[in-house]
Amino acid sequence: MILLKTKEEIELIRKSALLVGSTIAEVGRHIRPGVTTAFLDKIGEQFIRDNGGIPLCKGYEGFPAALCISVNDVVVHGIPGDLFIKEGDNVSIDCVVELNGYVGDSCYTFPVGEISPEMQRLLRVTKEALYIGLSQCKAGNRVGDIGHAVQQHCEKNGYNVVRELCGHGVGFKMHESPDVPNFGVKGTGPLLKEGMVIAVEPMVCMGSKNVKFSQEDGWTCRTKDGKPAAHFEHTVAIGQSGPDILSSFEEIEKL
Ligand code: MF3
Ligand code: CO
Repeated sequence: MILLKTKEEIELIRKSALLVGSTIAEVGRHIRPGVTTAFLDKIGEQFIRDNGGIPLCKGYEGFPAALCISVNDVVVHGIPGDLFIKEGDNVSIDCVVELNGYVGDSCYTFPVGEISPEMQRLLRVTKEALYIGLSQCKAGNRVGDIGHAVQQHCEKNGYNVVRELCGHGVGFKMHESPDVPNFGVKGTGPLLKEGMVIAVEPMVCMGSKNVKFSQEDGWTCRTKDGKPAAHFEHTVAIGQSGPDILSSFEEIEKL
């Protein structure tokens, strides 16, 4: 069942989603060569708690950290640990927060220092795909319109979208109905209605779309070919005439 949110509930989800954006910005301030992903996770968790939030990833189906931190060929669900960040990496910070009972979810992929032109292009196209998908988030469209738009933009640029993982409804819980795939056929899937809140999150590979999940930790999702991937995500409310993007990259992009 797809739960609809009232205007008041959407404002509360916005508060939570904006805290996610501020958290990612705070973590971003600390991303530089030589720091570990565990250190970045500590910064994020402290910031969330200092602001009255709960880091929802921590303990979710056994996930051990506050943030998912995914570097280079890790697509999503990287577990923070003793990995050292280095110049030229791409580092995605995926964060889910509950604030006053409402949930926001967002992700940003940062370049570390000077990255290759190929990687710069991957980050740019993945972020563009997110906003192109978001532009489909209006009442009367269907979930397949979002996936179709995301997939088109990525494939047109020579990239591939991951099939195993999807965006999702969000707001009362981290994961609600519907699933929001990053691929699809126009005019198919659940109807979008005013008051729906979803997370749109393209996961895009420079090489083939195939991924593998770590046998050791059960979480870390890597590209099979070892080529880099990128991930950007916003929480968005479906409006009558267009998207109301509840999370924000504004603070992140001021860095
Ligand atoms: N932000 C991710 C998502 O969109 C995080 C979920 S995985 C977790 O679903 F276990 F870390 F929570
Ligand atoms: Co999500």
